[in-house]
Amino acid sequence: MVAIGNQSRVLSGMRPTGRLHLGHYHGVLKNWVKLQQEFDCFFFVADWHALTTHYEDSQIIADNVWDMVIDWLAVGVNPGSAKLFIQSYVPEHAELHLLLSMVTPLGWLERVPSYKDQQEKLRERDLATYGFLGYPLLQGADILIYGADKVPVGEDQVAHVELTREIARRFNHLYGREPGFEEAAHAAIKKMGKKNARLYKDLLKRYQEQGDHEALEVARALLKEQQNLAISDRERLAGFLEGGGRMILTEPQALLAPASKMPGLDGQKMSKSYGNTISLREDPEAIREKLRTMPTDPARVRRTDPGNPDICPVWQLHEVYSGDEVKDWVREGCTTAGIGCLDCKQPVIDSVLAELAPIQERAREFERDQERVRAIINEGSEAARDVARETLDEVRQAMGLVYS
Ligand code: TRP
Ligand code: SF4
Repeated sequence: MVAIGNQSRVLSGMRPTGRLHLGHYHGVLKNWVKLQQEFDCFFFVADWHALTTHYEDSQIIADNVWDMVIDWLAVGVNPGSAKLFIQSYVPEHAELHLLLSMVTPLGWLERVPSYKDQQEKLRERDLATYGFLGYPLLQGADILIYGADKVPVGEDQVAHVELTREIARRFNHLYGREPGFEEAAHAAIKKMGKKNARLYKDLLKRYQEQGDHEALEVARALLKEQQNLAISDRERLAGFLEGGGRMILTEPQALLAPASKMPGLDGQKMSKSYGNTISLREDPEAIREKLRTMPTDPARVRRTDPGNPDICPVWQLHEVYSGDEVKDWVREGCTTAGIGCLDCKQPVIDSVLAELAPIQERAREFERDQERVRAIINEGSEAARDVARETLDEVRQAMGLVYS
């Protein structure tokens, strides 16, 4: 499925296994809010992915689905520009996952680093399951079913996007080679009109004979603009550029989120598993208390002992929240014992509370209007299904699963 129009399509998902915290906000959600202004975005609750690890305590999933959606809405993810949905509300993902499983070599899944890593890390759970092995393939189906070309993910998920690319390539190789492909491609070129046909052929030549990658990019953009061409023709011409068959599935790129190292209360990365989080809807008084009692440079036993910001978790929070003026004040005051740690923490406390106040206010609005939240998700899921169905139709057809 080639994304329609010349806008890139972005897809990302989040597993509903706990409350969202400032790490999610700074690491993921702020980026989503930005992406939704530039691209055609699909964001979803990956409840089936959560089930691969939480099948024994699946109540956690139901407990977190709606709160997660409310948190998205509260931080400004906008259902007017992005499609928001729940994975299991679009069962087409499961059918594509099944169909792709037929052509996915076992070794490809076994070699994905997260497979062994997570089994080691989550020892208390039995992850020697078929479902867990298929985790990255399910993710591949999520991505491929929307023809997403950009997938914002963290470092740990890049291997999953890479696997998705390989699956797409294999699928296109196996099923994109229809009889009479060349003729069909040439007929499609003619349908572009004289000027564009000439341009396409020129770019094709430049890429194929001189390996000019810019020409390939321009040609792809040109194809996306050909609204009057049928999708199947655009896929043919996209595949033709690279000397293959039809490109039925689009190879996605990982979009590494701008590195945000949101530190937790102990200086490690903020993460539920370290118990060092501030959740987005945490009570302000509890936030104050957590920050007031968070550790500082252990050398500052007494108020008169100078400290070193470079080994202090509070300093890392200043790096996120404070401007140069405050940071200069911290460095000077800390190293000369001119300020106490509580003084030092106050600007961070103020910034965190100021950041969360409007988010919490919006969250309360959505909490009061659960019906609206349901409606947003139902609408997003329907819109997602429309796209997903189209891809599945083509996949079934390409695999020869249409019996008329
Ligand atoms: N595996 C992702 C995570 O744990 C969640 C996810 C599921 C996802 N499907 C996806 C992310 C598709 C991007 C695209 O964070
Ligand atoms: Fe950390 Fe600030 Fe205390 Fe220095 S003054 S040790 S930077 S909290």
